Amino acid sequence: MAQAMTQDEMKKAAAEAALEYVESGMIVGIGTGSTANHFIDLLAGIKGKIDGTVASSIASEERLKSHGIPVMDLNNAGQLSIYVDGADESDKHLNLIKGGGGALTREKIVAGASDKFICIADESKLVDVMGKFPLPVEVIPMARSFIAREIVKMGGNPVLREGFTTDNGNIIIDIHGLEIMQPVKMEADFNQLPGVVTIGLFAQRPADVLILGTPNGAKVV
Ligand code: A5P
Repeated sequence: MAQAMTQDEMKKAAAEAALEYVESGMIVGIGTGSTANHFIDLLAGIKGKIDGTVASSIASEERLKSHGIPVMDLNNAGQLSIYVDGADESDKHLNLIKGGGGALTREKIVAGASDKFICIADESKLVDVMGKFPLPVEVIPMARSFIAREIVKMGGNPVLREGFTTDNGNIIIDIHGLEIMQPVKMEADFNQLPGVVTIGLFAQRPADVLILGTPNGAKVV
């Protein structure tokens, strides 16, 4: 009998399918996390085809460089054709929760600078209503208590991510206990609080393509 596919194998299957979106001469935006790592490792096999990459974290930059894949500064790369990254949750409209790895701000910047956002994930990430995965928010350290109180007023339960500093020198508060019924509004509401750098909701600019790894291989949503 065939062995069941592990979650990691499903992530890899999604990453493999995303390779088909990579065209000659592209500068490719690269996400962060275990699924993005699979994509980086696979991209190494076709690195001669692309002009370079822009990384959404120091960790991804180091992994890309370890494969000899050129990494560019976003300021020198112009508009990117595609951005490939994982997610912590997606709804059927391709609104996402991201930031489980804490790279949400740079991820949102690179996604925003890309024509097409290809999200790669294993099938467990697709949910009816987002919020079971704690929603990360990157916060300027001096605003920590103020933002925590505002989160409580908005119905969430704020938990400081202990011992974690983002690539931008800030903290992450993970918001538990949310049922995200209006992701676009929630993203706007959180982003306008002073001290919030980025909320990990990607709804104003959702993914354009969601590739899910399933036990039967990758499928495009
Ligand atoms: C990193 O900050 C996140 O946004 C990741 O994209 C997300 O946590 C998905 O991670 P995995 O690919 O490891 O599941």
